[in-house]
Amino acid sequence: MRTPEEKKTFVREKFSSISPKYDFLNSVLSFQIDRYWRWVTTKELKPFPDGPVLDLCAGTLPLSLELARQAKRRQVLAVDFCEDMLRAGVENMPRDERRQRILPVCGDGEEIPVASNTVWGITVAFGVRNLANTQQGLNEMHRVLKPGGKLLILEFSRPANPVVKPVYSFYLNRVLPKVAGLVSGDKEAYEYLASSIAEFYEPDVLLGMMDKAGFARVHRRPMTFGIVSIYVGVK
Ligand SMILES: C[S@@+](CC[C@H](N)C(=O)[O-])C[C@H]1O[C@@H](n2cnc3c(N)ncnc32)[C@H](O)[C@@H]1O
Repeated sequence: MRTPEEKKTFVREKFSSISPKYDFLNSVLSFQIDRYWRWVTTKELKPFPDGPVLDLCAGTLPLSLELARQAKRRQVLAVDFCEDMLRAGVENMPRDERRQRILPVCGDGEEIPVASNTVWGITVAFGVRNLANTQQGLNEMHRVLKPGGKLLILEFSRPANPVVKPVYSFYLNRVLPKVAGLVSGDKEAYEYLASSIAEFYEPDVLLGMMDKAGFARVHRRPMTFGIVSIYVGVK
């Protein structure tokens, strides 16, 4: 059992260690479905084409890039507390005009370095599970959203289908840490991935926490047999 501060240090170190291989492994291990998940999530922000929007736990910026691709005037603030992840994202960013509209900022999602009521949308892809204090993070997301703005959390959930469940579990616990460990050189990071998915809140509990943070119309949209879900809330 880690204290919240120990979890933060551990998570930051693990992402730092896998940052050079993160994008490659993400595509390979998800059979590129991750791109579809981010595309669907981003489309939910269609009513806010200009921004500014916040991509929290932005990592190597895949969702920030999609946010900027889908709306040509949108400004994206990309916040992550692991500098190496942001740096890898900036280094590999396509040399197009999106560079001017994506602003990477090193900062903590539990103390977001953004003024209250500032952004029209927030996306958090595969980040909420990594927060040391989820409720604190959700409270902060609510604070920085403008009234009427939308929160979208894309996160792993656990499939309930009796055929998919054991296959997915075998893949996640046995195959993935071995393959990703070999490629990234950090097996522990991918064992953490599996255990953090297994230990994460049930969907209804997370929706309850969003409600507690002040979000309205909270609901969940499961995708790909419930392997991931998009959680939606409005301020
Ligand atoms: C699995 S990666 C997701 C990156 C990206 N959003 C994507 O879609 O691939 C999770 C990211 O969350 C970041 N993170 C975890 N806890 C954080 C916190 N408290 N504040 C800011 N970023 C955090 C990590 O550094 C990591 O880059």
